[in-house]
Amino acid sequence: MPRASVPPFELEAWLKTVARDVDSALGRFVPKATTRPATLHRAMRYSLFAGGKRMRPAMVLAAAEACGGGRAAALPFACAVECIHAYSLIHDDLPAMDDDDFRRGKPTNHKVFGEGVAILAGDALLTQAFEILAQAQPTRRHGHAAFVLELARASGSLRLIAGQVADLEGEGKDLSIPELRYIHENKTSALLCASVRLGAMSADASPAQLKALTDFGRNVGLAFQVIDDILDVTQTTEQLGKTAGKDVAAQKATYPRLVGLDESRRIAARLTARAYAALRPFGGRAPALAALARYLLERQH
Ligand code: IPE
Ligand code: IPE
Ligand code: MG
Ligand code: MG
Ligand code: MG
Repeated sequence: MPRASVPPFELEAWLKTVARDVDSALGRFVPKATTRPATLHRAMRYSLFAGGKRMRPAMVLAAAEACGGGRAAALPFACAVECIHAYSLIHDDLPAMDDDDFRRGKPTNHKVFGEGVAILAGDALLTQAFEILAQAQPTRRHGHAAFVLELARASGSLRLIAGQVADLEGEGKDLSIPELRYIHENKTSALLCASVRLGAMSADASPAQLKALTDFGRNVGLAFQVIDDILDVTQTTEQLGKTAGKDVAAQKATYPRLVGLDESRRIAARLTARAYAALRPFGGRAPALAALARYLLERQH
């Protein structure tokens, strides 16, 4: 008897449901645009609802599904990581950092609201993330202390912020591959990995599941930034929704600069293959995670 064929995972349709659910949950968690101080809440919402790909929330929900958990329990975690992401980009775009005028096809936060409010909107989104996390449900194995530790560590001075510091300090320098890897590991992979892990924790993941998903998240996160570096060189500003060629202009340390485009593509493919391999223990029960890893490798923006 031929085995019943498994229908291919419909990632596009699934991502639409993720965006819908995350948008509506974020809309409930974050104060309304009219709430005083209205400028601040408008600025927070401007960046939260500017049309981001919602990849970190997708990782949260996909990891929860892989561990047999429901979406409702995972949504607060998805919103919390998206708030951290939004804050990190508002600050990343500031004149004192990457000095970007466009993001997601729109003027950056500081261009619309001014630098002072943009800085404060970032601060407020960072704090908002932990307020949302406090409202998540603990599971048998994982409680609020573990949730806070996970998100605080990933976004703190040893990880995301450490990567941003090294990224700034690396401008104009010929860094070694390990130094560049340190930047990617921290500025990007740490939050993606925490997204996967928090999704798993919302589903009461076992230590073995968490270990496998940590390996997955780390490699997907590294591949994500290598692709981001490649797209900065190969895509147009219209395709990216953010100014293309900024990394070369700012003499950023990137994979294309260090090893060229072809080798960068091989590195991204190798990291994605490692991410797939990490899903083996799930034996086909992590279709959304596998589809996401592939999508991120092949994305055009
Ligand atoms: C951009 O992240 C910043 C990086 C870590 C490279 P995304 O490409 O996920 O940004 P949006 O949210 O989809 O705009
Ligand atoms: C941003 O990296 C990483 C964080 C905000 C933590 P990039 O500076 O490469 O992101 P883009 O290219 O501006 O989106
Ligand atoms: Mg940057
Ligand atoms: Mg930038
Ligand atoms: Mg970039």
